[in-house]
Amino acid sequence: MISIRRFFSSLPATEVHQKIGSRVFEVDSMTNATPRILSKLDANLLTIPGHPLNRIKTKIYDYFSEFHHQDMLDPIVSVQQNFDELGFPQDHVGRTLNDSYYINRSWMLRTHMTAHEKEMIVNGHISFLMAGSVFRRDEIDATHYPVFHQLEGVHIFKGSDYSSSTVPDIVEEALAEKQPEHSAEQVRFALGHLQSSLDGLLRHLFGPTVPIRWQSCYFPFTQPSLEVEVEYRGRWVEVLGSGLLQKSFLQGSGLSTDQHLAWAFGLGLERLAMVLYDIPDIRLFWSKDPRFLSQFDPSVKDEGLTFKAFSKYPHVARDISFWVSSEFSQNSFYDLVRSIAGDLVETASMVNLYQVYYANSL
Ligand code: DAH
Repeated sequence: MISIRRFFSSLPATEVHQKIGSRVFEVDSMTNATPRILSKLDANLLTIPGHPLNRIKTKIYDYFSEFHHQDMLDPIVSVQQNFDELGFPQDHVGRTLNDSYYINRSWMLRTHMTAHEKEMIVNGHISFLMAGSVFRRDEIDATHYPVFHQLEGVHIFKGSDYSSSTVPDIVEEALAEKQPEHSAEQVRFALGHLQSSLDGLLRHLFGPTVPIRWQSCYFPFTQPSLEVEVEYRGRWVEVLGSGLLQKSFLQGSGLSTDQHLAWAFGLGLERLAMVLYDIPDIRLFWSKDPRFLSQFDPSVKDEGLTFKAFSKYPHVARDISFWVSSEFSQNSFYDLVRSIAGDLVETASMVNLYQVYYANSL
C-alpha cells in the first residue's frame, strides 16, 4: 500500500535525495513538504510594489526607520533554529508532522520568523526587523493558508539605556512573570519601551483612535510574554506576540552579560492587511486576477484604500466520506485537497469521524 506521505513526495519511492533551489536534501521518514508548497518558496509577495503585504511591510519599516531591515533570509531552516534554540519542548504540538512542513528530520520550512533571531544577533545586529514567508499545515478557510508572512522585530538594550526614562502604563500582571535575573525597574522600563513602541506602530498603521488591548500570554523564548489585539468591526483580532527575550537565549547568541535585556515581537502581515484594507479572504493575497491587482497597483494612493469585492466562482458544496486507517492525519487530507484542487476549494472541514467495529454476523 502507498502511504499518504509517499503519495506527496515528488520523487519515485526509490529516490533518497531531492533538489530544492540549488540545494540537495536527503529524503527521509519525516519528509512531508509537498511539491505545491515548495513551489511557493520563490513567490516573494513582499517585494511586489503596491501589493498590500508590501505596503504594510514598508509602513512598518518606515516607522522603525532606525532599525536594520532584512527580508531575504532563506525560508529553509534547521529544526534546531526553528524549535530547539528557542526552547520549544520536544512534545510541543508545533513540531508534529501534522503541523509543520519538514524537508527531512533536520531541515524544515520555518514556521515563524523567530527562527532567524539568533543568526541576526550572532551577526552583530542589535535593533532589527526581518520579514518573510512562514509555513504551517492548517485547515482550509478564509483566514488560513499554509504560507503566510510575518514581520519580526528585536531591540537589545545597552547597559546605559535604562537609567532615566519615564515609564508608561504597562501590563501589571506581566511584571510578576519577570525573569529572576532582571530587576523590577529594568522590566518596567523594557516593557514600557516595548508597549509604547508597538502602540505607536499600531496607531501609525490604523490611526490614532484604534482600540488596542494587551494581554499576558506564553511563548517559550520570551518572559514575560504579551499579545496584542486590535478591535475591528466589533471583534478583537490578535495581531502580534511579543515579550522580553530569555536571558539564556541572548547569552547563547553570544551577547555579553550587560546585554541581557531585549524585547522582541512577531506579527502576521496578512492579519494586519486584512483588517487595514478590508480584504475578506487570505487567498486573495496570491491572486493574479487583474480585478485584485489593479486595486493594489503602486499608483493607487494608500489613503482610504480598501478592497472592493468582485464576483467569485459559483458556490458548490460537496460532502464526501471515506475509510481511514489509525494513522490518518487530518492536515494530510487537507494537503491532498490543496495539491489536487488548488485554491478553488474555499473551505474543507471534518464533519464526523466514526469509530467502526466489525460485526461477527457480516
Ligand atoms: N513567533 C511567534 C509566532 O509565530 C510570534 C512571536 C511572539 C514573536 C513573541 C516574537 C515574540 O518575537 O517575542 O506565533
